[in-house]
Amino acid sequence: MPEPSQPCGVRIAGTGSAVPEKVLTNHDLAEMMDTSDDWIRQRTGIGERRICSSDDEGAFELQCRAVSAALEDAGMQASDLDLIIAASVTSEMTCPSNACRVAHQIGAAPAGAFDIVAACSGFVYGLNIADSLIRSGRHRNIAVIGCDAMSKVVDYEERTVSVLFGDAAGSAILSRDDDPGKGSIYQVIEADGSSWPSLYLPRKESDVPEKASESDVRMGKLRMDGRDVYRFAVSKFKSVIEDAMNATQLSVDDVSQFICHQSNIRIIESAKEKLGLPDDKVYVNIDRYGNTSAGSVGLCLDELNKAGRLVEGETIVLVAFGGGLTWASSVWKL
Ligand code: UT7
Repeated sequence: MPEPSQPCGVRIAGTGSAVPEKVLTNHDLAEMMDTSDDWIRQRTGIGERRICSSDDEGAFELQCRAVSAALEDAGMQASDLDLIIAASVTSEMTCPSNACRVAHQIGAAPAGAFDIVAACSGFVYGLNIADSLIRSGRHRNIAVIGCDAMSKVVDYEERTVSVLFGDAAGSAILSRDDDPGKGSIYQVIEADGSSWPSLYLPRKESDVPEKASESDVRMGKLRMDGRDVYRFAVSKFKSVIEDAMNATQLSVDDVSQFICHQSNIRIIESAKEKLGLPDDKVYVNIDRYGNTSAGSVGLCLDELNKAGRLVEGETIVLVAFGGGLTWASSVWKL
């Protein structure tokens, strides 16, 4: 184990992702409920999403596939890992954590393993935590996995929520690097619990807020006040990116990619417009996958990596917000 006092940086050694095979198109949804391809595309930018199609598929299976792909990309074995951080709101069980089961399944034991629950911000929360743990000198190789199997908690009788979400996992292997300039050079992990009723997953009647407008709340199914979350997201995306740029004194020209949680194309477009971000610097795949909650930023990261668009020495900005309400950013030197 390296000396904790020895300064070091963090590099992204590899990335991976996984999505279910089953495609659920807007046209499929229009056959299930009162909606249309036009409405969904115009209001969200989504054309289709992937969803788990059997009980055997779920967060655990997607997490195993994504982290295995990331290890392969890094040219590493599972036994090289000393920690696995899995971010999800759809882990099969709360005990044990999915991270423990993933570690066992891929052969990473005795690597430490824990889950974090930060909804759509989970992957960026995880990256920031992993960066800090590696810089502390106590860990050398950490797998971060952001994953959600939202189809398991979406009520397909409720049209506002169900059209938005899909299932996916994205993973990054973070490794200690001798260059202290590499890794997260600025990061934010924040939350405002007062607004939790805007987005929640009730397990029992008493979880439902008194003022809930919904009369048909179903236990185990996601509830969302879309307009509230939309307003929060539009202002938060802008302020979080502005804060990150001001704190690091970087300009848009200094950043090669802004990797934003794929929540709704209108939320991403609003941030682009307000901050003057060019199209080619804001990655978008929501048209193909929908909003995959904790999976989305890692999935984008992996697609950019596979396209050769994560270039050593360049700077990327990762931003996410979600249930909690939570938000997180990381300015990352590759
Ligand atoms: O990842 C973090 C968590 N979530 C988010 O980021 C979501 C943020 N919010 C949103 O993306 C948007 O609020 C939604 C996509 C969820 C909804 O879009 P909206 O433009 O805010 O629609 P709305 O809720 O204001 O509804 C407008 C109309 C309503 O009809 P009336 O009352 O105007 O007659 C809805 O009943 O659209 C109706 N509507 C639909 N119509 C067809 C709502 N959902 C649908 C639908 N198809 N799927």
